[in-house]
Amino acid sequence: MKTKNTLFILSLIITISIRADEGMWLPQLLNSMNIKDMKKNGLKLTAEQIYSVNKSSMKDAIVQFGGGCTAEIVSNQGLMITNHHCGYSAIAYHSTVQKDYLTNGFWAMNKSEEVYTPNLVATIINRIEDVTAKVLKGVTPTLTEIKKDSITKANIKQIEKESMAGTHYESFVRPFFYGNEYYLFVVETFKDVRMVGAPPSAIGKFGGETDNWMWPRHNADFSVFRIYANKDNKPAEYSQDNVPYTPKHVVPISLKGYNEGDFTMVYGFPGRTQEYLSSFAVDMIMTESDPLKVSLREKRLNIMSEDMRKNDTIRLAYANKYAGVANYYKKWMGEMLGLKKYDAVTKKQLFEKQFANVINADPIMKGKYENIFPQLQKLYSDYKILNKQVDYYNECLMAIDAFNYSRNYSTLFNELKKKQKGLTNTFDKTLEEYKKLGFFKNYNKTTDIKICEAMLSEYIKGVPSGNRPIVLDSFIIANNSDAKKITDFLYSNTSFVDKAKTELMLNDFEKYANLYERDPIYYIANAIVKHYAASVFPQFQYDEREITETQKLYLQAQREIFKDKKFYPDANSTLRVAYGKVNSYKPKDGVEYKHYTTLDGILEKEIVGDEEFSVPSKLKELFKSKDYGRYANKDGKLPVAFTASNHTTGGNSGSPVFNSKGELIGTNFDRNWEGTMSDIMYNPNQCRNIVLDVRYTLFIIDKFAGAGYLLNEMKLVK
Ligand code: ARG
Ligand code: ASP
Repeated sequence: MKTKNTLFILSLIITISIRADEGMWLPQLLNSMNIKDMKKNGLKLTAEQIYSVNKSSMKDAIVQFGGGCTAEIVSNQGLMITNHHCGYSAIAYHSTVQKDYLTNGFWAMNKSEEVYTPNLVATIINRIEDVTAKVLKGVTPTLTEIKKDSITKANIKQIEKESMAGTHYESFVRPFFYGNEYYLFVVETFKDVRMVGAPPSAIGKFGGETDNWMWPRHNADFSVFRIYANKDNKPAEYSQDNVPYTPKHVVPISLKGYNEGDFTMVYGFPGRTQEYLSSFAVDMIMTESDPLKVSLREKRLNIMSEDMRKNDTIRLAYANKYAGVANYYKKWMGEMLGLKKYDAVTKKQLFEKQFANVINADPIMKGKYENIFPQLQKLYSDYKILNKQVDYYNECLMAIDAFNYSRNYSTLFNELKKKQKGLTNTFDKTLEEYKKLGFFKNYNKTTDIKICEAMLSEYIKGVPSGNRPIVLDSFIIANNSDAKKITDFLYSNTSFVDKAKTELMLNDFEKYANLYERDPIYYIANAIVKHYAASVFPQFQYDEREITETQKLYLQAQREIFKDKKFYPDANSTLRVAYGKVNSYKPKDGVEYKHYTTLDGILEKEIVGDEEFSVPSKLKELFKSKDYGRYANKDGKLPVAFTASNHTTGGNSGSPVFNSKGELIGTNFDRNWEGTMSDIMYNPNQCRNIVLDVRYTLFIIDKFAGAGYLLNEMKLVK
């Protein structure tokens, strides 16, 4: 028995054999888990220099930017670098047709020209603590899942409360390994963040959607912001009296470049990965969910881009929305292809079969774990159906801006009703918030009408009558399933898509509320939301919880069996370290890519008159005169971007990429087409992150934008 099991384990270990460079590690555990391996691969720092609670360390210069990206602090006055696409919504927010910063770029020539961006926050981690024991206190195996859940939630609340008491810190607890571990994050959230500089889109977004998720790459995907704090260096709401933040650590910038094979480390906030999914889940994603979402987004994107090309106001209004929708549209496409090429489902199935053998060969293991795969299979066969409904909700119904916008008003209507009944309510406050909504700044009714018609027609085709919200279904039936007819009716009878009418409503809400609550778009949108809230989401969330529970067991079993394997938790928007090396790759038979690109390639890609591939004349002049100064590569060319084998995902954008000494060599901004499936399965031969060479960043700031004064704040290492 014993030997049989050992054999099984051996064959399994071969299946999951060490995939070099895979992993997003917890910085507070480097010392016990990774530091030896990192040093073996070239790192010259101690774990303490990377993460420390007591002393200043690199982590003090790593910022979660705007909730979904990363930035690095590069001066002792709170100056930070992130991606152009991470600053994009801020740049778009400050842009008008007259002052079009998206097109022309923006550079503050001194601090007084830096512009505050409402709602943009910068978060810095103060400390991370293992709170697993505290969170699971009182949770015993015999309790029901619901009971376990409520105890866990109450414990988490208490831990968060205690850790914040009497301080200006914020804190939150997050589960890791599907709830096998919990960590507390104590953070400072800075609310006064100002835009300092951004290159024109022709540079920051050169290559546009065509090059997105692709290598070779040629855009300077960076923008520059500054954190402001109060006089005590603490977070504060925007004020003219605020001063530049003094960080505990400043990232030094290397002008030395790198060679293929050099150690690299990415330090940032990866958003979400699902590396431990079962074959059932991966199959659902690649054969159902991804294809559906891609086809729905494609329709929406075509409509938007056609209108954006017609008119500058629409182009600016939809720029940010378009980029967001286009980004994952393309990512999911790459993911499907990559998973297929890698034969992901078969690989997972093989692993699961061998794993089940190991479990079944040992009576104790069998007792604990034999249900894992049958259970996951059953759960996914139910979950799949709901997941499709949720995909239709998010990518089809709520892709209609008017639906998505008007449904928000239900809170306001409800608060008003409470007020009218004399109950406690937040009506006045909520109303003030609604008045501030900038919906119409990024809205064009004609475009939305086209989207509505297209989405409804997809919905009618794809969702059978019995699965539709009743109100919507009867409306569809009454209109002979004619999406155009429905759309025409909705938009000619609604007030929600009309700025003047909405303002009128908001200015005397109590008087008009009645009228607006019967508005057809509000009525339908709200019925949809209610239907989903009552009939889809509860079961969907219940299934997700069950899946999480089973995944938790699955991981527990894996960690029990592979005692020597180092496991990394899936990304969950918390601080992580990924290490690897500057690395080229071979995308397909007969093709090899180099690990870096240069300015030469920008001129090669130029297409005059094509918005995605036009090159600003000033950049061409700099190219002609070869005035690269200290930013040139050893070969005399100006480096632009490079590829490395760090395991990264969405949220890692803007992350600093360090050399072995902890000096900045670039800013992470993307992954390669062949590797977009790395969120689900990492293939070391194909997965690369794409990094903007910091020398190109400095070159653009200094020689192109003439904002070289900013470099005086930085620590440049020659
Ligand atoms: N693919 C990169 C990431 O996921 C860049 C996205 C922004 N650029 C764009 N062309 N939409 O964020
Ligand atoms: N571009 C992504 C981001 O914005 C990074 C990635 O998905 O690799 O975070």
